[in-house]
Amino acid sequence: MKKVEIHPEAVERVKKFTITDTNLGFGKYMAPIMIEAIYDKGEWQRFDLLPYGPLKLDPCSKVLHYGQEIFEGMKAYRQPDDSIKMFRPEQNARRFNQSARRMSMPEIPEDQFIHACDVICAYSKNLVPRRLGESLYLRPFMIATEVGLGIKPSKQFLFIIAASPSGAYFAADSVKVYIERDDIRAAHGGIGFAKTGGNYAASLKSYAKTIDSGCDQTMWLDSTHQYVEEMSGMNFMAIINGELHTPAITDTILDGITRRSILELARHSGMKVVEDKLSITHLLESVQNQSCTEAFVCGTASVICPVNSFLDKDGKIYQVKDGTGKISLQLREKLVGIQAGREDGPEGWMHTVKDIKF
Ligand SMILES: Cc1ncc(COP(=O)(O)O)c(C=O)c1O
Repeated sequence: MKKVEIHPEAVERVKKFTITDTNLGFGKYMAPIMIEAIYDKGEWQRFDLLPYGPLKLDPCSKVLHYGQEIFEGMKAYRQPDDSIKMFRPEQNARRFNQSARRMSMPEIPEDQFIHACDVICAYSKNLVPRRLGESLYLRPFMIATEVGLGIKPSKQFLFIIAASPSGAYFAADSVKVYIERDDIRAAHGGIGFAKTGGNYAASLKSYAKTIDSGCDQTMWLDSTHQYVEEMSGMNFMAIINGELHTPAITDTILDGITRRSILELARHSGMKVVEDKLSITHLLESVQNQSCTEAFVCGTASVICPVNSFLDKDGKIYQVKDGTGKISLQLREKLVGIQAGREDGPEGWMHTVKDIKF
């Protein structure tokens, strides 16, 4: 494993940096430092901690034309004893490499990925917010930097980790969901399971429709337009007849770490969990006849947010019985409590960032 080289300018920058705004929002403020690593000649050459700043890219770098890029999203939390812990970073490292394989990009050894995350967290420790629900959001990403317009995998890459002290993702306590009946996000054999920019770019047209119709989140159906898949940046769950239902993971759905963690907590609490195909017709009927009492979206950024209602293409609104989500909020409290170090969670979920004096 390569040690991250610490540049003194980066340390100086972070020592002087403060944020006075108490409303952090999500991804609004960036830490003044970043990790940068270069891949060339078939290997990762070096890892550096540098001042955060603009990249110098050749206009014909492959990422700018063919979208060869991947990313991750993860969080570090301040603990009651003031130490910093990351939530399940090895899961992000693993998923990053899964995305890398699908996008013909080089993998980063899991311990190297986690070491780089550790370093940026350790040097950003004064920027990890203190209030419950706030955290240091990490954005590791990789882009293809080889210059040339031939459509083929790049041989050169840049890996970066940016960090953003963040608060709540949604301003409201619940979300309104717009059901996308026309466009699709992913099909079998495609890239739906990979965390790569193209999936998000393809969702933006529907995002505009979603917002125009007074909703907050787009719900994607599968390529047959029959089954619920996920949101543009979150997974989906519903409580139907007292059981926790969620679409089973396929190659068209991003395998969310929050989703997996919630299922583990729910099973542990004795709740019945159903991971299967979930037809949109069945979901809407269940909402209408109130056998679906709650629904929620879940992901690293939002943790858990109850669904208030669904809006269909024909303008029909399906109001969820308990739109503020009693069980959803119990699950949220448990997960947030574990992440903030106020509650015990399953062994190995919280990864301690080694303190560094600087
Ligand atoms: C498309 C998509 N689905 C689901 C999720 C939730 O995944 P996680 O819980 O790992 O953040 C995300 C966010 O990463 C996402 O971008």
